[in-house]
Amino acid sequence: MHSTTPWWRSAVIYQVYIRSFADGNGDGVGDIAGLRSRLPYLEQLGVDALWINPWYKSPMADGGYDVADFREVDPLFGTVTDAEQLIAEAHRHGIRIIPDIVPNHTSDQHTWFQAALAAGPGSPERERYIFRPGRGPDGAEPPNDWVSCFGGPAWTRLPDGEWYLHLYAPEQPDLNWQHPDVHADFESILRFWFSRGVDGFRIDVAHGLVKDPELPDLPPLLDSADGPRHHIQHPHWDRDEVHAIYRTWRKVADEFEGDRCFVAEAWADTPERLAAYVRPGGLHTAFNFDFLMASWDAKDLRAVIDDSLAMLHAVGAPATWVLSNHDVMRHTSRYARKTVARWVPNERYQPEGNVDLELGTRRARAAALLMLALPGGAYLYQGDELGLPEVEDLPESVLQDPIWERSGHTDHGRDGCRVPLPWSGQSAPFGFSPENAPAEPWLPQPANWGERSVEAQTGDESSMLELYRTALRIRRENPALGDGTMTWLDAPSGVLSFRRDPGFVCVVNLSTEPYRLPDHTSILLASGPVTSGLLAPHQAAWLAA
Ligand code: NOJ
Repeated sequence: MHSTTPWWRSAVIYQVYIRSFADGNGDGVGDIAGLRSRLPYLEQLGVDALWINPWYKSPMADGGYDVADFREVDPLFGTVTDAEQLIAEAHRHGIRIIPDIVPNHTSDQHTWFQAALAAGPGSPERERYIFRPGRGPDGAEPPNDWVSCFGGPAWTRLPDGEWYLHLYAPEQPDLNWQHPDVHADFESILRFWFSRGVDGFRIDVAHGLVKDPELPDLPPLLDSADGPRHHIQHPHWDRDEVHAIYRTWRKVADEFEGDRCFVAEAWADTPERLAAYVRPGGLHTAFNFDFLMASWDAKDLRAVIDDSLAMLHAVGAPATWVLSNHDVMRHTSRYARKTVARWVPNERYQPEGNVDLELGTRRARAAALLMLALPGGAYLYQGDELGLPEVEDLPESVLQDPIWERSGHTDHGRDGCRVPLPWSGQSAPFGFSPENAPAEPWLPQPANWGERSVEAQTGDESSMLELYRTALRIRRENPALGDGTMTWLDAPSGVLSFRRDPGFVCVVNLSTEPYRLPDHTSILLASGPVTSGLLAPHQAAWLAA
């Protein structure tokens, strides 16, 4: 099936947060060797491709998103040869490989930044980054009022008096995309990895590369809480000029055989703005964060689905759907709050409310069936298939996310969704490291994670893992699923019901009352027991109809 359309229009892509997936060399940190050893698991799970978080040489100030050399793999994870072997081996398992690329910034240890520091103010070396004199007496004030996404000002001052821009940590200076060297080097990096067989790239901060050359202060905030969403021309986010870069990147991808593809991490104010990234001649796909951010509410979800599909259809691009990633609280825990408000990234990493994981798990099971039935592709974050919750009680002494320090210890950051996976056994590291070298994992795993391990869930028909395995098998076999269209069916408020042709219906009950399933010939899969044709609250079913 799907043989006439490119694979990425329907793909289920599994996100590997490499330092937490599987440790092959026994140092407590996941690596390429560990990932290779688990390829049979991923094939059996039934995913089409892996998006792998940055594996490049890095001082790890931001979990590898501070890249010192894009043509080297960090020794923590392996070597370029290991990466080549992984790519070849994954292909033999029928799994494609999509690494991350991080074009907005480098590490402060990158040779370009080190050269810029050494060369001093006014030098050509500094032009590859964004250096400026300060404002105010003695230039002691930052050049403008931009803020770092991790907290604090987006500028750091050097001993020679100049300031440099970093929209993230000070160890991540922003590149200057007005500079031809930056364009040329990234095109060469793309070719370096494409020629080693990667099938595409996930583009980090794809919406941030181009800054207003005047570097003006931020515009006043428009309060759009209750009104329609609108776009504000921003000095550094989602500027129109960014698309020219991706048109060139698309040509680079098209130089290579096979369907290579890009997925943009682009945060845009409106679905129209997001769709601009995936116009013909631009990128192939973009993450649909509106789906991840939606509340657990039928009306909100339906609006997000409709808006996304309409905008993407207008430019001929497929939708992608995602519930969790390494930057947000795991959805089992988000949904464990009675009322799930719209998720606001960066502003609220720890939503309030009592945590009812039983409720969160029921909703997460239903959400998985919803997501995997929608037209387009889908992203799974490692551990989604195990129903892992956020680890909300990590001791402060172990926190590593720069957000913890940069927020002045007010925001615990993203480590709670990055805890190493439990594979087997009843005590840490739960098979994360080799049996003969059971190192302490880089973040501690909860003592009860043996219950959620791959081993514990395998063969248990009621487990999250078996739900995902069955759903992915059905999705592969059923011609109605993946790329295509959908039609809403009549349903009371609180229930989402839609048809995919030929012969498939998905029903999700987000209400507080049981819902009688529409006419069907059989139940293909349900997220919980269906008795007397009634779908319980927080459950979903796939029907042949
Ligand atoms: C987005 C990545 O997903 C996140 O983990 C990282 O901290 C920032 N970009 C900066 O690279």
